[in-house]
Amino acid sequence: MFFDSHAHLDDRKYGQDRHEMLMRAREQGVSNIINVGYDIPSSQRSVALAEKYDFIYAAVGIHPHDAADCGEDGLDKIRKMASHPKIVAVGEMGLDYYRNLSPQDTQQQVFRQQIRLAVDLGKPIIVHDREAHGDVMKILKEEKADQARGVLHCFSGSMEMARECLKMGFYISIAGPVTFNNARKLQEIAVEIPIDKLLIETDAPYLTPEPHRGTRNESSYVVYVGRCIAKLRNIPVEELAAATTANAKILFGIT
Ligand code: NI
Repeated sequence: MFFDSHAHLDDRKYGQDRHEMLMRAREQGVSNIINVGYDIPSSQRSVALAEKYDFIYAAVGIHPHDAADCGEDGLDKIRKMASHPKIVAVGEMGLDYYRNLSPQDTQQQVFRQQIRLAVDLGKPIIVHDREAHGDVMKILKEEKADQARGVLHCFSGSMEMARECLKMGFYISIAGPVTFNNARKLQEIAVEIPIDKLLIETDAPYLTPEPHRGTRNESSYVVYVGRCIAKLRNIPVEELAAATTANAKILFGIT
C-alpha cells in the first residue's frame, strides 16, 4: 500500500472527476492521502474532503505565497480548524524565494508563527522550501521546530541539509521530480535517506512524475514515485511502499 503524503485534491482541476480520480488511487493501492491546505479556503476544503472520505486526512496552513494575505485572524482560523480530529498537521508553511509572491519578511513571520502554533498544538508541520534552504534551516532551529517535528515536502535541498533535518527528527518527502532524467542529485538523496525517515508524495495536481509528465497529476501516480525510488535503492517496491506508509502513519499519528 502507498501513502500519498502531500496532495491538493480540492483543486479545481478535479472539478469534473474528483471521485473517479480518488477511486483510481484506491485501485492502485493508495491507502491514505494527506490533503494539504495553503490558505484559509483551501484548508477548509481540505477539512471537507477529509470528512467525506475516510482514507483522506488533512493539513491546514498558510503557504508562503499566501503569507501576505493571512493576517492575525488567518492564524486564529488555522488554530480553530486544527482541533478537528482528521487534521493531522499544520501546513503547508515555509519560504519560497523562487516566486516571492509575498515579501520575504512576511513569509518568515508567518512561517515562525505557524511553527509556534504547531508546537503549541502538538502537531507535526509540513514545510515548503523553494530556493530558501538557509533561511528555512535557520528558522526551524530558532523556533525549535524539533519539538513539533514534521516533514520537508518535495525535498529539493542538499544531502547535508537532509542530514540536519533528520537530526532534528524530521522526515524527508520525495515527489515526482525524482523520476525526471536530470534529477541525479535528488536520486542520490532518495537512496541515502534512511528508509525509516522517507515519505513519498505526488503534490498533485503539480509535479507529475514520468511517464505522465506534462499532464495533470493525481494521487494514483504516487506509485511511479515509489517504483522509481525502490529501483534506485534496489529493493522490492512492496518494501518501499510498506516502509513509507508506516513512516507517514507514525508521523501523522494515524492508526
Ligand atoms: Ni503542496
